[in-house]
Amino acid sequence: MNLQSRDPEIAKIIATEERRLREEIVLIASENYASRAVLEATGSVLTNKYAEGYPGRRYYAGTENVDAAESLATERAKQLFEGAEHVNVQPHSGSQANMAAYFAALEPGDRVMGMSLDHGGHLTHGSPVNFSGRIYDFVHYQLDEESEVIDYDAVERIAQELRPKIIVSGYSAYSRTIDFERFGKIAENVGAIHLADMAHIAGLVAAGVHPSPVPHAEIVTSTTHKTLRGPRGAMAITTNEWSRKYDSAVFPRMQGGPMGHTIAAKAVAYKEALSDEFKEYARNIVGNASALAEALTAAGMRIVSGGTDNHLMLVDLRDMNVSGAEAEVKMRSVGIVANKNMVPFDPNPPRVTSGVRIGVPSITSRGMNIDDMGTIAELIVESLRVTESSSEQQSLAQRVKDFASSFPVPGVDS
Ligand SMILES: Cc1ncc(COP(=O)(O)O)c(C=O)c1O
Repeated sequence: MNLQSRDPEIAKIIATEERRLREEIVLIASENYASRAVLEATGSVLTNKYAEGYPGRRYYAGTENVDAAESLATERAKQLFEGAEHVNVQPHSGSQANMAAYFAALEPGDRVMGMSLDHGGHLTHGSPVNFSGRIYDFVHYQLDEESEVIDYDAVERIAQELRPKIIVSGYSAYSRTIDFERFGKIAENVGAIHLADMAHIAGLVAAGVHPSPVPHAEIVTSTTHKTLRGPRGAMAITTNEWSRKYDSAVFPRMQGGPMGHTIAAKAVAYKEALSDEFKEYARNIVGNASALAEALTAAGMRIVSGGTDNHLMLVDLRDMNVSGAEAEVKMRSVGIVANKNMVPFDPNPPRVTSGVRIGVPSITSRGMNIDDMGTIAELIVESLRVTESSSEQQSLAQRVKDFASSFPVPGVDS
């Protein structure tokens, strides 16, 4: 019995979500559209199988097919990220990939250093409301107040003084190229491990449009569903030295059975990412992001650090008399989806914020190009200007819907 007959309520929710994806302009920097092939693998019978352990070393019988899928995923990931000595494709999420890295290298109470959340770090980089900040002694570095980019000398000074066991690089809201080599050297100089969290930029790294952290970090973690455009999930790349410790931190310490269906879908996504088409996609992401940043700047908006080198940008709204939370609502009212975000040294609390984070991976997957970025910028600016519930706002919403609907949604329409 198919879903429509078995459960029309859920079938309707999914159909409504497909319509939303088609009619809205999605600018959430951490989202993307998985291909139909990725969705098919995710929805496959591999979800049924228990396979605790690793290929060839399972605690269940009958695992030959999930073994084959996991081995293929691992092989392809090694091909995709040059220099990868060891890959673990089992972490269920980016947060868990980071948790396993901490479990592999630390004891409770050990010191770790990462970027603070309000400057672009992730919750798992030591936020007090997250397990990381509760279990470990996190110390934080911040962006330089003037340039709004990482001050590597300051990072080094703090590391020398506070001697963390792990230094975390990689962020959720940083628009500039990360000097992973420098982070590797800083970590080495203080006897720390370098954990590079490339969750946001993995697709750009895979395509060679952002320098790879792999040669410069003992452990690299990543989600698979952001710029990498795979299924919701995560992975880690480690040096041979850290492989056993990392693997046993994932299983049995942190997780039980791996998700065979998701792992198969990761394998599909890696295969897609190895193609020339994906490399072009990643180049288009970077081109679109800088074109959009330029168009927004020309329209009078301030982009944190003056622009972007990757797939996202932070817009500082402090001169525009609107908070990040208000801007998020105004944009959504006309079908533009982006999220409020703290800007560096933000005077507003996290639920309010002074900025919005804008990313282009999703709209680039739909085939929008640099010529469309002027239109997107105009729609954003207008969405912030028009009055709530006015006829002007209604016609703007219709314009957004017509514009968005003229582009196919991968996985839904193609
Ligand atoms: C840098 C970074 N690390 C880790 C994660 C966590 O990923 P997940 O939401 O899959 O737990 C995110 C998610 O946004 C992220 O931006």
